[in-house]
Amino acid sequence: MKTDAYILREENYGAHNYHPLPVVLERGEGVYVWDVDGNRYIDFLAGYSALSQGHCHPRIVDALVGQAQKLALVSRAFHSDVLGEYMEYACHFFGYDKLLPMNTGAEAVETALKLCRRWGYRRKGVAPDCAKIIVCGDNFHGRTITVISMSTDPSSYAGFGPYTPGFIKVPYNDTEALRVALQDPDVTGFLVEPIQGEAGVVVPDDGYLKTCYDLCKAHQVLFMADEIQTGIGRTGRLLACDYEDVHPDILILGKALSGGMYPVSAVLADDDIMLTIAPGEHGSTYGGSPMAASVAIASLSVVRDEQLTRNAFEMGELFRNEIAKINNPMLLKVRGKGLLNAVVTRPMEHKTAWDICLALKENGLLAKPTHGDIIRFTPPLIITKEQMMDSIAIIRKTLDAFGK
Ligand SMILES: Cc1ncc(COP(=O)(O)O)c(C=O)c1O
Repeated sequence: MKTDAYILREENYGAHNYHPLPVVLERGEGVYVWDVDGNRYIDFLAGYSALSQGHCHPRIVDALVGQAQKLALVSRAFHSDVLGEYMEYACHFFGYDKLLPMNTGAEAVETALKLCRRWGYRRKGVAPDCAKIIVCGDNFHGRTITVISMSTDPSSYAGFGPYTPGFIKVPYNDTEALRVALQDPDVTGFLVEPIQGEAGVVVPDDGYLKTCYDLCKAHQVLFMADEIQTGIGRTGRLLACDYEDVHPDILILGKALSGGMYPVSAVLADDDIMLTIAPGEHGSTYGGSPMAASVAIASLSVVRDEQLTRNAFEMGELFRNEIAKINNPMLLKVRGKGLLNAVVTRPMEHKTAWDICLALKENGLLAKPTHGDIIRFTPPLIITKEQMMDSIAIIRKTLDAFGK
C-alpha cells in the first residue's frame, strides 16, 4: 500500500480533528522512525515530549511486555504487587508524600483541579461551590470540557460551551495580574505551565515562577504546576520549576512518565492536600494498573540511569547556539530550555512554517508547525551529539533552500 492510500483511509474513517504531516510511520527505534516506504527520519517532535526516552526503549518495552504477560489490570478494587512500588519510587523521585495515578494528561489536570477545590473547602474554609482557580492566558492543559473552560484559545473552546465556571484568567508572565486576582479570598489555586509548550514554547521571565509561588503562599493559595510537557528532564532540569527552586504544592505529570509506551499520568502532593479526597470520591479503572506502574518505574529509571536530564541541558545549549548561527531571512529567533525549543519563522513568498516542515521531512527530519509561524523542536532526550549535529545540518540545509 502506498503512503497516499494509508492517509486516505484515515481520512475516510477517522474524525478530522488533526492535521498531520503527510508521512505514514511504521517503526521507531531511539531517535529514529521509518515510514512505510522504508525512509528514515529523525523524530524532532517525540510525541509532544512523551517519547523523551526514545522510541521503543528496550527497558520500557521489557517492562510493558513482561507485565502484560503476568497481570495487566486489577482495577483499584484490589491491590497489586507493583502499584505501591511505583508510588514509593515516584514520591521519592519528586519529593512528595503521595501520588494519585491517572492515564492521560487532561485527566491528571482534572484531578489536580478537583484536589485543589477540595483542599479549598476542607482546609482553607471557602464556602461550598465558591472555589476559584486562577489560570493563565494561552494555556494548554488538554481537551476535556472543564479544561477547555480554562482556555483562551478559540480553536480549543469555541463552539463547545457551556463551560465550567470557577476560573479567573490572567495573562501569562504577568505577576501583577496574579497579585490582583489573588485578592479574591475564594481563590484556592493557581495553575501554570512553567514553559507554555503548545503556545509555542513561551518561556517566562526569570523569577516569574518564584514570584508566583511566593504570592500564592502569601495568600494561602496552592501553586499547581502542569509539568506534563516540561517535566521529567525535558527542559534540562528534572522539573522546569527546579530552575527557580519552586516545589509545587500540586505537581501534574504525564507524557514521558510512560516513555510514550502507554497512557500514564499522575498528580503528586503532600498528605495535607492529597488526603482531602477519600475512598470512592475519585478514580479511574486504568489509573495505576500494573501495566502503568511497571512502565512508569522503567521510564523514570531510564531518565535517571541514562542521565537524560543532563543530556537535555547540554544538547539544548548546543541546539540553540547552532541554530542562532544560521543566517536566514525566514528564521526570526530560537527559544527554549533544554530540549524544549521552538524556532519562530517569518513567511516569505507565500512559504510558511508548514512548508519548511514539509521540506524538513523530505530531508529526513520530522517537526510540526504551530500557530502558523512557529516550529517546535523537541527530540528525544537520548539524542547524541552526533545525531544533534546531523539534525542541525538538515535544518540548515532546508532553510538555505528557502532563503535564496
Ligand atoms: C502542558 C500540557 N498539559 C496537558 C496536556 C494534555 O495531555 P493529554 O493529551 O495526555 O491529555 C498536554 C498535552 O500536550 C500538555 O502539553
